[in-house]
Amino acid sequence: MTLQLVTALAYLVAASLFVLGLKQLSSPRGARRGNLIAAVGMVLALGITLPNLTWTAAGVSIVVGGVTVGGIVGAVAARRVQMTAMPQMVALFNGVGGGAAALLAVSELLGLKHHDLALELPSDLSIIIGSISFAGSCIAFAKLQELMTGTPITYPGQQIVNAGLALAIVALAVGVLIAGPSAGLFLPLLAVALVLGVAFVLPIGGADMPVVISLLNAFTGLAVAASGFVLSNFALIVAGTLVGASGTILTTLMSSAMGRSLANVLFGAFGSVAPAGAAGPPGEEGRSVRSGNAEDIGTLLAYSRSVIIVPGYGLAVAQAQHAARELADQLEARGVEVRYAIHPVAGRMPGHMNVLLAEANVPYEQLKEMDEINDDFKNTDVVMVVGANDVVNPAAHDSPSSPIYGMPVLRAEDAANIIFMKRSMRPGFAGIDNELMYNSKTTMLFGDAKETLTKLVAAVKAA
Ligand code: TAP
Repeated sequence: MTLQLVTALAYLVAASLFVLGLKQLSSPRGARRGNLIAAVGMVLALGITLPNLTWTAAGVSIVVGGVTVGGIVGAVAARRVQMTAMPQMVALFNGVGGGAAALLAVSELLGLKHHDLALELPSDLSIIIGSISFAGSCIAFAKLQELMTGTPITYPGQQIVNAGLALAIVALAVGVLIAGPSAGLFLPLLAVALVLGVAFVLPIGGADMPVVISLLNAFTGLAVAASGFVLSNFALIVAGTLVGASGTILTTLMSSAMGRSLANVLFGAFGSVAPAGAAGPPGEEGRSVRSGNAEDIGTLLAYSRSVIIVPGYGLAVAQAQHAARELADQLEARGVEVRYAIHPVAGRMPGHMNVLLAEANVPYEQLKEMDEINDDFKNTDVVMVVGANDVVNPAAHDSPSSPIYGMPVLRAEDAANIIFMKRSMRPGFAGIDNELMYNSKTTMLFGDAKETLTKLVAAVKAA
């Protein structure tokens, strides 16, 4: 068998492993396995590429140096990253993928001696999409890492400036196709695409960053697929297309879970104006809330028949997943039915809550998706909202003037008793007040989620 045939077969196997891996990722049960399967596919694709390279001394040092540095940085970053900082890490890793695709196309164009449309067209696309993804991802990273303000940066005429940049990109790209691989055209193309990447993400608020990251992820996939055409590499085309398609689907799912169109996320500058009186300690606005203590709430829980826990971003920040599991174990030992209601955008990234709770060995059967459990709140004795806020905000269906109006939310207000666990009256990520805290059925339990859950475990034991 020739090397060419072996390579083609290996790429085919790798592509199948990518598809199988993705399929497994669609459920928390298979997610780890899916990741491993796709990683094996990637090692195979990379491994079979090596004997196909033309080896020179400089080439060897670049490949070995790149794999060593990239491998070490990737492994250390992945092991050290906090769960709550995962979106910005994804942004960064995704961004460098887009940047790599753009640089690859530049290097191919630099080496091209004559007009070749079949190479110039995918190179154009790779430079444009890869650069936008790289620059946009860097801004998304900076916003989420709080290296810059997370609020949308807007100015008059912004859309016109952005449209101007887009037009300049089209003109330069067409120029490359007509005039051939001239560095005087494709290097400015790279520069303007980088500027558009920055300009595109600046007006988008921190709260919408996970959606933007997912979109940029899809862009990187397309840039990589275009690079596959540049290099005539089948594995790159398949892997890039899979990333592009899955990123696009995820972006759409996330936007609809927030009840907003993608256009609204990208151009709506959501969160640019903080609503008046949104933040502040209890009672600051003259409205009172009922606040309880762990002992009384522990007794209420211990004598309930059914409890639903609604986890949110605060549970992740407090690393309270193990304490939540412990409380659930105590309650179940007393015959209380315990379930977890998982909102699709609870936390800061897709699947955030599922991953956290899986880490604490919460049985998958107890994790209920929003549509599955929303009708059950009315038959539930106690709902415990733990470090969540926006995902239970009734304004989403009660208040047409609310910025989150139309977002599908968990109907926690239907339960007989609502225990709202957070540290203060501050709003959630959307920056808006939550009427549920003032509901007559609600008892606030203030404090860090891990500490209050631990107190509740003791209180249930004592009840
Ligand atoms: P949020 O609405 O952001 O509420 C989290 C709450 O946790 C806050 O109100 C905060 O109140 C509390 N908290 C923070 N640290 C805590 C701690 N140590 N102990 C106890 N409570 C703590 O979170 P959510 O309900 O999960 O909603 C997610 C938000 O992110 C939505 O607005 C959603 O649209 C947005 N978003 C999510 C995604 C994905 S994919 N997940 C994507 C884009 C946007 P205190 O400060 O008073 O404690």
